[in-house]
Amino acid sequence: MTSTSHDEALQAGPPPVVGDGRALYDWLRRARDAGPVWHDTANDAYHVLRHDEVVGVLSEPLTFSSDFSSLAPPPEPGMPNFTEASLSVTDPPMHTQLRKIISQAFTPRMIAGLEPRITALATDLLDAIEGRDTIEMVQDIAAPLPVVVIAEMLGIPSDDWATFRRWAEYLLPDAADVTAGQFEEGGYAKTRAAELNEMADYLLAHVHDRRKSPKDDLFTRLVEATADGERLTDKQVVNFSVFLLLAGHLTTTLTLTNAVLAFNDSPGTLERVRADRSLVPGALEEVLRFRPPVSFLYRFTTREAVIAGTPVPPGKIIVNWIHSVNRDPRKFVEPDRFDPGRSPNPHLTFSHGIHYCLGVPLARLEFSVVFGAILDRYRALECGTPEFHQRPDIFGVTRLPVTLHRA
Ligand code: HEM
Repeated sequence: MTSTSHDEALQAGPPPVVGDGRALYDWLRRARDAGPVWHDTANDAYHVLRHDEVVGVLSEPLTFSSDFSSLAPPPEPGMPNFTEASLSVTDPPMHTQLRKIISQAFTPRMIAGLEPRITALATDLLDAIEGRDTIEMVQDIAAPLPVVVIAEMLGIPSDDWATFRRWAEYLLPDAADVTAGQFEEGGYAKTRAAELNEMADYLLAHVHDRRKSPKDDLFTRLVEATADGERLTDKQVVNFSVFLLLAGHLTTTLTLTNAVLAFNDSPGTLERVRADRSLVPGALEEVLRFRPPVSFLYRFTTREAVIAGTPVPPGKIIVNWIHSVNRDPRKFVEPDRFDPGRSPNPHLTFSHGIHYCLGVPLARLEFSVVFGAILDRYRALECGTPEFHQRPDIFGVTRLPVTLHRA
C-alpha cells in the first residue's frame, strides 16, 4: 500500500510530541493501519510503520545505509568531527571491521564486572535522598548515574566527572536546532566549538596516556584491541568514547524515568513487580517497548529499493518508527497495554541487525540495579506533572517530580 491509501489528515504528517505524545501515537496508529509505508511527499521521505517491514529495512544495510556523510554539510574548519568513522554511521565493510575491534574491548564480561560499582553509585544516590518525601527523578537519580558509569568505565578520573557530565549535555542539541528529517550536526556544534574542542583534546590526551601507560580501563582496552591485525586509530578511540556518551547517557536516563511514568500510569503493576523481582528484566523490556526513548531510526537508500511494494528511489530518507513498530498489533497482543509480564517481547527499541545496540547488557544492568534498589526502599512512587522533551527524535521527560512512599 502507498500514500494513496492514506487520508488527508494523515498527509499532514506526524504531529510533534506534545505532552505524553498521545496525538503522535494516534497518528501512527492510523498511518500504520492504512499501510506499511507512508510517503511524506513534502520532504520526500519514506516512513516505515510496521514491524516486519522495519526489520526488513534494518536487515539490509547496504541498501538502507547509516552513512549520512554524503548528506551532511562538510565539517566546519577547526571543529572536531566526532562522526567520522564512528560505529553507528558506517556501513559494511568498515562497520564490520570497527565493530569487531570494539567488541574485543566492550565485552559482556567487562560490563558484568561493573555491577559492584553501579550498585555503590545507586546506593549513594538513594542515600542522598533519604528522608525526603519528594524528589525530582531526572536530576536526583536518572541523569547522574549513566554518565558517571560511562566516565568510570572509560577511566576518567573522578575529579573530572562533573566536567564530563557538562560535555554530555553539550553533545545534545537543543530542541530548536533539530526538526524531524533534518540532519543535525552544524549550527549547534558551532556555538559549542570551544567546549567540544576542549573535550576532544581531553579525550585524546587520555588515549595518548594509555598507549604509553596501560591501565585497567576501557580506554586501554580500546587502544589495545585488535581484529585481523587492525587497531583503532587515536581518533577512532576518541570518537567511540564520545559516541558512548551520546548513546548511553540520555537513553538510559530516559528509560529510568519512562519506567517510573509507565508504572505510575498502570495501577497495580509496580506492586506486582515489587512482589516478584524475577519480573524486573521483563518489566524493563516492556518499558522499552511501551515508552521507547528513541522515536525513530534514519536510514537512506543507496540504490533502488522496494519496501512492502512501495518503490523507493536511491538517495531517499527512510524513517523507521520505533514508536509504531512497538505497538504493531501484528506483533503484540493488546499493544496499548503496559504489561510487565509480556512475553515474548520483540520490541525494536535497541534496533535490529548489524547496528543492534552494543550497550544492551549495560543498559539492562543499570536498570536492574537502580530499579531493584528503588523497589527495596520504596513501596510506591507517585508522579507529579512531568515536563517532556520537545525533540521529535527522543521521547521522555526533562523533569519528573515524584512523591516517595517508604517501604
Ligand atoms: C535504554 C538504553 C539504550 C537504548 C534504548 C539504546 C538504543 C540504541 C539504538 C536504537 C541503537 C542503534 C541505532 C541504529 O540502528 O541506527 C544503538 C546503538 C548503539 N548503542 Fe545503544 N542504547 C541504549 C543504551 C546504550 C548504552 C548504555 C551504551 C553504552 C554505553 C550504548 C552503546 C551503543 C553503541 C556503541 C551502539 C552502536 C552499535 C553499532 O552501530 O554497531 N547504548 N543503541
